[in-house]
Amino acid sequence: MATLKGKIGYPILGDSSVEFYRNVPLYVNSRIEEYGARIFQARILNKPTVFVCSANAVKELLTEHHTKMDLGYKAMLHHLYGDNIMFEEAAEANRLHALMHHVFIQNALLNFDSIVQKFIQRHFSDLHSRPSVQVYETFKLFATELMLALFLDLDVSDSADLVHDVASLATTHWHGVISVPMNWSVSYWSSSCKRAVEAKDKLLERIRDRLASQTDEGSFLTRAREAGFKDHAELEQHILPFVSALVPKAIASLLASFTLALCSENQEDMQEKARESSDYLDWCLLETERLWPPVLGGRRLVREDFVLDGYKVPKGYAVIYVSSIAHRDPNVFKNPNSFDPTRWANKRTEKEKLLFCYGDGPRCCVGTSLMKNLIKKVSQYLVGHYNWTLGDQEEDLDYKWLPMARPRELSVSFTRIDQSEASSELAGSD
Ligand code: HEM
Repeated sequence: MATLKGKIGYPILGDSSVEFYRNVPLYVNSRIEEYGARIFQARILNKPTVFVCSANAVKELLTEHHTKMDLGYKAMLHHLYGDNIMFEEAAEANRLHALMHHVFIQNALLNFDSIVQKFIQRHFSDLHSRPSVQVYETFKLFATELMLALFLDLDVSDSADLVHDVASLATTHWHGVISVPMNWSVSYWSSSCKRAVEAKDKLLERIRDRLASQTDEGSFLTRAREAGFKDHAELEQHILPFVSALVPKAIASLLASFTLALCSENQEDMQEKARESSDYLDWCLLETERLWPPVLGGRRLVREDFVLDGYKVPKGYAVIYVSSIAHRDPNVFKNPNSFDPTRWANKRTEKEKLLFCYGDGPRCCVGTSLMKNLIKKVSQYLVGHYNWTLGDQEEDLDYKWLPMARPRELSVSFTRIDQSEASSELAGSD
């Protein structure tokens, strides 16, 4: 069995969390280069931690060794999200997975299409009339309002005050998530953390009020109430992440990365190709997931020793899998750093299994199909209605990595295309 390269050092003194949080790819890639291995150890959050950065090893970890690990977020995030599937062990997580799948996916999909189309029209039909568009902020506003419409039955056009109140609580709550690494190494109850916990309690109150006030048979909240959650508190806790800033930020990140990738230097013809071919658009979206997954990866706590790709992973260690680095594994993806949609033309299904933008295995994302469907609808609308170019600024696809990866804001100019020129394949995307 191979020995893990890298150092776990002494407690506290050997900790490299600050370096890791400052720039994840820089930290991880420098270790991969130094050790000549995509699996190595270090001390993070003062715990011996195995980093997993090869595509096949991440697959093996999430699909074959999940029973030997717990999810590793409870100590960091429980105070901000309360009792939630993210902190549960296997049996309980399976029960909640099944419930959430039923409520959030199948039933929500009944009116999903019409709600999404309404918000696409509202947010994106006038992009050409704005001198320039800050894409990340524009997509974040769209996604925030959409999530509140889908999961709280709230529409800003008739409940503006409540929507703004919930959105502002979600922002305060998010500031607590941002401060998590600092709270770990300095003081747990920083003031931003305290305000974030208060915001979480208020968000739960708003969810409770909405659940109590909805009697409409078809509404998401009515169906969620009757879905079989243990009690109201359990249901409220599970709606919380989707009205918090977490999901809108992930959606905005993917859409902004897609938009910027398709207008970077010498890439303008990709918009036309994506307009003409739904397959090509899919490949562009797969490339976006591959290069810029908003959730950088995941953390686990090892309950029992196991062997991963020939390395022993000891009980008591943490594991961090880094999707964004595994997605650039040169053993799987040739020229891994280039945005090349055509790489998906061959063996797509096989290679898609090595993308972890939504996790993998039994603990993968409940919202995967909902989100892929949403991102496809928005991107179809954009390529079907516009050409776009980078605004008047230096092209600099710089990223901010944690707690959610996203491109640095850049502005883009949209020009409306003649609808008769848009391919009939995409004409239905209005
Ligand atoms: C673009 C948006 C989203 C992205 C990128 C995303 C990504 C992810 C990832 C990477 C994981 C796995 C984390 C890990 O392995 O530790 C995950 C878990 C999860 N996601 Fe998502 N997600 C998104 C939206 C959603 C939505 C809309 C829902 C619900 C409708 C959802 C529900 C969940 C749940 C419940 C889990 C935890 C599953 C478990 O612990 O068993 N996500 N998500």
